[in-house]
Amino acid sequence: MKILNYGSLNIDYVYKVDHILQKGETQASASRQIFAGGKGLNQSVALGRAGAPIWHAGCIGTDGSFLMKLLTEAGVNCDHLRVLADTPSGHTVIQNSLDGDNCILLYGGANRQVTKEQIEDTLQSFSAGDYLVLQNEISGLPFLVEQAHEKGMHIVLNPSPMDDTIRALKPDHIDYLLLNEIEAAQLTATAFEEEDPEPLIKALREHFPKTRIVLTLGSAGSVYFDAKELIRQNAFPVRAVDTTAAGDTFTGYFLAGITEGRSVQQSLEMASKAASITVTRPGAAPSIPTREEIENI
Ligand code: RIB
Repeated sequence: MKILNYGSLNIDYVYKVDHILQKGETQASASRQIFAGGKGLNQSVALGRAGAPIWHAGCIGTDGSFLMKLLTEAGVNCDHLRVLADTPSGHTVIQNSLDGDNCILLYGGANRQVTKEQIEDTLQSFSAGDYLVLQNEISGLPFLVEQAHEKGMHIVLNPSPMDDTIRALKPDHIDYLLLNEIEAAQLTATAFEEEDPEPLIKALREHFPKTRIVLTLGSAGSVYFDAKELIRQNAFPVRAVDTTAAGDTFTGYFLAGITEGRSVQQSLEMASKAASITVTRPGAAPSIPTREEIENI
């Protein structure tokens, strides 16, 4: 069994701010740091540091060689990563507030240059029973889902950022869906109260009757459900410094657990521990813990 992550790779420009900017406001930032990021890259790094057999496919520019280096060091195979001569890597501008929150402005860059030809070429190296991990920061997502489904791959979707591309995917092509409350509300057009995820769970079950779903609830933990069962997991309380990549860490470690044969409850617990470490450190990919760190908690 192999895991292929076809996903984004970004250069994150992270600005430390007192509070997230409001409309029309100008604010001086306390610092700027540059990190490896991208939802795709972060999830691959989590899978690699968890010890999973992970391949990352996508596109970067010549400015993104440190992104490939970081993936390789995390144990991720980059044979299907293309370096484009004429397009810069994707990048983000991230505000990180004093209370650990963030907001992210995304520029797609090379992530939007993934072609059908590259997808067909990459998928030749994978077969039925392998896993395909996807987010929504690259071009070609609908084609990828169709092709991988036809091959009999298990499709794992983190529908972030949410838009009409996600809404147009066929629900029965998605085997695992991992998302947060905001994404769930947007995807199912459902209103919800922060303390009560039940309306979201009901709506997701209706929209995705055959899918295994993990809904993350921030400090309230997470919940797994499918047509038959529902399993809850508490979050591990920590003081958050930077929540960037917490969801990506959770996704990577949950899938690592499931694909190595752990139970859903064990996989949720490992993912939750991993994400709790990530939020105590600055930056995206560099903040993702190793398997050893989690086991030493
Ligand atoms: O999920 C966090 C990631 O979202 C950041 O690393 C940023 O690059 C954006 O893709």
